[in-house]
Amino acid sequence: MEITIRRPEPHDTDQVRAISNAIYPERPEAASFWEAIAGTAAAVEAAESTNTATAPAPGEQSVAFVALAGGAVVGYASLRLESGFPRQWHYGRLTLGVAAAHRRQGIGSRLLTRILAETAGYAELRIRVKDSETEALAFLQRRGFHEHQRMLHLVQDLTALPHLTPQPLPEGITITTLEAELAENPDPWLAIHELENACFADIPSGDPFAPPPYDGFLRMMADPNILRDCFFLAKAGARYVGLSFAARLADQPDTLGHRFTGVLREYRGQGVAAGLKLAVTAYARSHGYTRVITATLDANSPMRAVNEALGFRRAYSEVRMRRVPPDIPLTK
Ligand SMILES: CC(C)(COP(=O)(O)OP(=O)(O)OC[C@H]1O[C@@H](n2cnc3c(N)ncnc32)[C@H](O)[C@@H]1OP(=O)(O)O)[C@@H](O)C(=O)NCCC(=O)NCCS
Repeated sequence: MEITIRRPEPHDTDQVRAISNAIYPERPEAASFWEAIAGTAAAVEAAESTNTATAPAPGEQSVAFVALAGGAVVGYASLRLESGFPRQWHYGRLTLGVAAAHRRQGIGSRLLTRILAETAGYAELRIRVKDSETEALAFLQRRGFHEHQRMLHLVQDLTALPHLTPQPLPEGITITTLEAELAENPDPWLAIHELENACFADIPSGDPFAPPPYDGFLRMMADPNILRDCFFLAKAGARYVGLSFAARLADQPDTLGHRFTGVLREYRGQGVAAGLKLAVTAYARSHGYTRVITATLDANSPMRAVNEALGFRRAYSEVRMRRVPPDIPLTK
């Protein structure tokens, strides 16, 4: 059957999402990206056909393609600026998927070749693949991608978890909630942001660290799903030295989504993180949740040990692959 590769159109969105969500149900594909890209794709096509394109700055623009067989979308590829990194690093995030019934016919290779032609300006490309997708992992390895991180997605099943007794905290350390703290200190935000960033800097990700900006932190804290009575802070006197917090998940009312745990370097190795994260577990139990989910890098052995002790078990892993340089031609 003849295969056509073209830029996406607005009516492709549902078909792309159906293919993507069948491959990766844990990471639902947002309609908004494909709706927006379909709008810009039309403009790019028009400019290309009249040769009046004002070239976007390299690596500044998201692009996408779909593969069609018999008029139906059977595959997609997208390239977006990796979120969480400053623009000057130009890490491009790829997605690539072919509907199961249409694999091994060259469609994935054609989509990848097409999108690799649009990677000028990116310093490197990244793609996330579930570890169970062994064919996709091998396909990408044969085309210059290599694993650089592995994210463990973990579940704490509260219906099966025995009661866990908190261990005593080190001398002088207390645990409170953001809600209680706000009653005494109406403006703890900058101090919490600085604490969070100091902890983020020590995540063993292998990536250069860029502190997330304060305005983004304030936006996150305005999200009503972040529960201020499930936002635990460890204090040494008046100083914030650790935090652990969780958020409601709109589509899973029985599940609490753990967000982040961190403790300042000089207070580590004394059970503060375990005490904070156990407070999240206790909150979840007492508010009727049946599970807590969290994610930790495989390389983060201290956090893995805390999670293991609290009964978190692996649901699946996500292999994060990179291709550096991004634009060497495919050898296949
Ligand atoms: C990875 C993926 C996109 C590959 O798609 P695909 O359309 O099967 O890719 P291709 O057909 O181009 O290539 C697959 C293999 O089939 C081979 N092949 C191509 N045409 C063929 C044919 N007519 N007959 C037999 N084999 C063929 C290719 O050579 C390739 O093998 P190789 O890697 O040894 O060269 C697809 O497996 C997929 O969607 N997987 C799940 C998605 C996923 O996890 N994506 C990454 C996360 S976003």
